[in-house]
Formats: sequence, C-alpha cells, structure tokens
Amino acid sequence: MFLAKAMRSLEKAKILDPAVDAVVGAVNTVLPPGEVKDALHGKPLGHALHPMLVTLPIGLNIGVAILDLAGGKAARPAAQRLLGAAILSVAPAAAAGLADWSELGSAKRPKRVGLVHAGSNVVASSFFVASWFARRAGRHTSGKMFSMLGMTGLGVGGYLGGHLAYAQGVAVNRNADRTPKPREWKDAAAVSDLEAGMVRVEVSGQPVLLTRHDGELYATGAVCSHMGGPLEEGELEDGCVVCPWHGSHFRLADGEVERGPASVGILSYDVRVSGDRVEVRARG
Ligand code: FES
Repeated sequence: MFLAKAMRSLEKAKILDPAVDAVVGAVNTVLPPGEVKDALHGKPLGHALHPMLVTLPIGLNIGVAILDLAGGKAARPAAQRLLGAAILSVAPAAAAGLADWSELGSAKRPKRVGLVHAGSNVVASSFFVASWFARRAGRHTSGKMFSMLGMTGLGVGGYLGGHLAYAQGVAVNRNADRTPKPREWKDAAAVSDLEAGMVRVEVSGQPVLLTRHDGELYATGAVCSHMGGPLEEGELEDGCVVCPWHGSHFRLADGEVERGPASVGILSYDVRVSGDRVEVRARG
C-alpha cells in the first residue's frame, strides 16, 4: 500500500520533467535512431534487450555478496574480480535501458519513473566502484560496506524497473495477447475502401490494417507493438508502415520490424481479392 502510493506520487512528480527532458535530449544526441539504437532496443532478439543485460550486474554482485558473507579471507581476490566484472557489465545494460527510455515520447509517467530508476542505478554503481577501490587498497571492511550500500541501491533500481515493465508496460509487446486469426479466409472490406491507401478494420475481433501500396495489397496488425500506436494514422514509406507515435517501421510484406524503437513485429495476414471484396487470413 505504501509502495503503491509512493509510486503514484513519483509518477505524478512534474518536478522531474526538466531533468527528464535534459537527459532524453542528451541520450538522443549521443544515440540517434539507427542500427545501433535498434540493436540496443533488442530488434535482433525480437524482444527487449535491457532485461537480459541487467541480469549480469545483479547476478555478479549477488556473487560478491555471497563471497563477502561466507567466503572468508581466502575469497577476497575472487570477490574483487567478480566485482570488477559486475562494474564492467553495467555499461551495456545502462545503454540498452537508456535507449528504450529515450523513446517513450509523450509518456511522461514512465519517463519520470525511468529517471529515478536510472539515478538509483548510478548511485548503486558509484558504491560498487568505491567498493572496488577500497578492496584494492586493502580496506576490505569498507569494501564490503560499500558493496552492501550498492546492493541497496540496486534493489531500489530493480523495484523501479519492475514497476516500469509490469505496472507501466514499457518494452512490452502490445500485441502479446492477440492470437493469429482468422485461420480461414474472412471478408474484411470492400476493394473500394482501400482507395485512401490504408484502412483499419476488425476481422474476427482483431484490428487489421489493410494497405494498398505501389499497386499491391497488404494486411497486417493495426496496433504498434511498441506502445500501441494506431498504425492507420501513420505513413507509408519504402514498403513499411511508419507508426505515428515514435516512428517504428514495420514491413508491410511480413510485419517484421525494419526500424525501432519497436523490437517485436506485428501480425501479418494473407490477403486476396474475391469479386469486389478483400479477404484476409492470419499467417503463422
Ligand atoms: S507506439 Fe512507439 S513506435 Fe509505435
């Protein structure tokens, strides 16, 4: 209850907005949209990369804590090496997280939570670095203390990261609960409905985007997998539909991501003309 209230207050903390804007601007300058940023979003994996990378610093630091608590003097060199590896593993995890966070557009609440999530992890990492230097100087008790403070910061950051993903739905496929259907050919629209280029229709309860592009007919899901943007309000570009919210490109031919921030494709349908009607059936 207390945590839920605290999170609601954090989500509404407009005071964070100038800092959010400044950091988002800096991230987008260093990391503009493109191949590198798409890789950090997780496009090659087909889902977000950040949750996978954060397991490294978390797991390695837990290893350090176990050695500190139960390993005795003999475990000191191993604990320090493990701590060094944990510190080095922070950079890629942070880069992936910042890439995702910088593409949340006008979604202010997750951006505020994300800023504090990142801040907690910066504080935690600072303690881990201090711990490494203390251990190197032979001050092992101080090193252990700094590591414990770092673990506390990591716990706070982890809680906020969980809130971002599971309460606020950041980096979650917005089509995850849609099963590909219909399996049989189903009437979708009149051929004349496609004169405008793109039209959104419902087929077997699914939102389907029918597109006429360069003389070809295509049918894909109509909801952007990144944060649910309405693709029928987007634009057509080089065989892709471009989401109007944050610019993800999805290939019309197969629904795959051509450009992020989305890391997961959208549903794809076979399409045919029967008389003056357009029919579709799900692929996959
Ligand atoms: S909702 Fe973000 S790119 Fe579509």
